[in-house]
Amino acid sequence: MKILLTGAGGQLGTELHTLLEETMPGITTYTDIDTLDLTDAAAVARAVADGEYTHIINCAAYTSVDRAEQETAMCLRINTDAVANIAKAAYETGAKVIHISTDYVFDGSAHLPYRETDKVNPTSVYGSSKRKGEVVLLSLCPNAIILRTAWLYSPYNHNFVKTMLSLGAKGRKIRVVTDQIGTPTAAADVASAIISILKAPQWIPGIFHYTDEGVASWYDFAKAIFRIAGMTDVDVKPISTADYCSENPSGAARPPYSVLNKQLIKKTFGLSIPHWEESLAATLARINPETL
Ligand SMILES: NC(=O)c1ccc[n+]([C@@H]2O[C@H](COP(=O)([O-])OP(=O)(O)OC[C@H]3O[C@@H](n4cnc5c(N)ncnc54)[C@H](OP(=O)(O)O)[C@@H]3O)[C@@H](O)[C@H]2O)c1
Repeated sequence: MKILLTGAGGQLGTELHTLLEETMPGITTYTDIDTLDLTDAAAVARAVADGEYTHIINCAAYTSVDRAEQETAMCLRINTDAVANIAKAAYETGAKVIHISTDYVFDGSAHLPYRETDKVNPTSVYGSSKRKGEVVLLSLCPNAIILRTAWLYSPYNHNFVKTMLSLGAKGRKIRVVTDQIGTPTAAADVASAIISILKAPQWIPGIFHYTDEGVASWYDFAKAIFRIAGMTDVDVKPISTADYCSENPSGAARPPYSVLNKQLIKKTFGLSIPHWEESLAATLARINPETL
């Protein structure tokens, strides 16, 4: 096995880098935009030309959900066209692809956790670009694995946990929406699921949903962050999405309900998934307040 990991400097890419070197050392080449810009089709083709890679894991993406509403072209270039470049390179060389997608492919009108076969209907530029990436990948590489995940956080890059800790430390009043429901998910747990997929006795292609266990609103998530971090005096107020949007009119629409059903990945790969609060505590213990 020889792996090319793209987007290795992101939240998930960094967690996966650590885990790959702990569990399957020395078989992965790590790239990010500075070493392999995935929007450059020729560079992607060159990177895999000698056929040495058996697997390509794509953790790269344009992830600024609100900014994507203005930077549509750039978002599509990274989340759709670059995925097409990876798909072509994998098709040419026979490499197996693991690609990461998102709960934002759904519109959030459901009341039960989304299954892989449920109808997609993205409501934002970001969600739409990610769905187009799924389609283009599966059209060229039907044996690819797509992991849809949600609400990622880690000690790295920008994410909700680090933003909350930083605002809380500054003594800011914090208002967080209560009517968007999903599952906070540690990037480290997604990385661990990817290792299980790589180590499975058989390659089983398809779309799989992976998040941590449990359900929360963003408000619940914020309250848990401060409770577990011992910052109990931080003032967190619940607000509605309507109120939030009237104050931030240029932001992207988000699914009000985006809980993912994980039965398929658990059954297929024998995964046991931690509850989101357990993983939140483990990640908070790894965040150095000096780096916020
Ligand atoms: N974050 C979430 O809440 C969330 C939720 C659901 C699904 N996902 C999906 O999960 C995956 C990992 O997300 P993440 O949070 O780890 O993302 P991230 O932290 O934003 O990392 C993405 C990485 O991709 C790199 N990248 C951007 N454009 C590139 C290009 N043209 N060529 C090569 N690399 C490029 C970025 O580099 P720069 O930083 O230099 O741009 C960054 O290192 C993505 O597919 C994302 O869509 C994320």
